[in-house]
Amino acid sequence: MYVCICNEVKEKQIKTAIAAGIDTLEGLKTALDVATCCGCCEPMVNDYLDANQDSTLASAASLAYAV
Ligand code: FES
Repeated sequence: MYVCICNEVKEKQIKTAIAAGIDTLEGLKTALDVATCCGCCEPMVNDYLDANQDSTLASAASLAYAV
């Protein structure tokens, strides 16, 4: 599924980049050119970043309880 129509960036590319450690909007803009034209996709890109942050925090919390 395309997230950024202007630059033809797909959801999978964004998720792959986030999984590789790019965890900021600016980083994704630099790496993928996402959200660098009209900006309409920026809220959706931020949602992917937020979802990643939430899962990272959940993992950290799980580890804290496991220790
Ligand atoms: S849809 Fe991504 S910059 Fe326009």
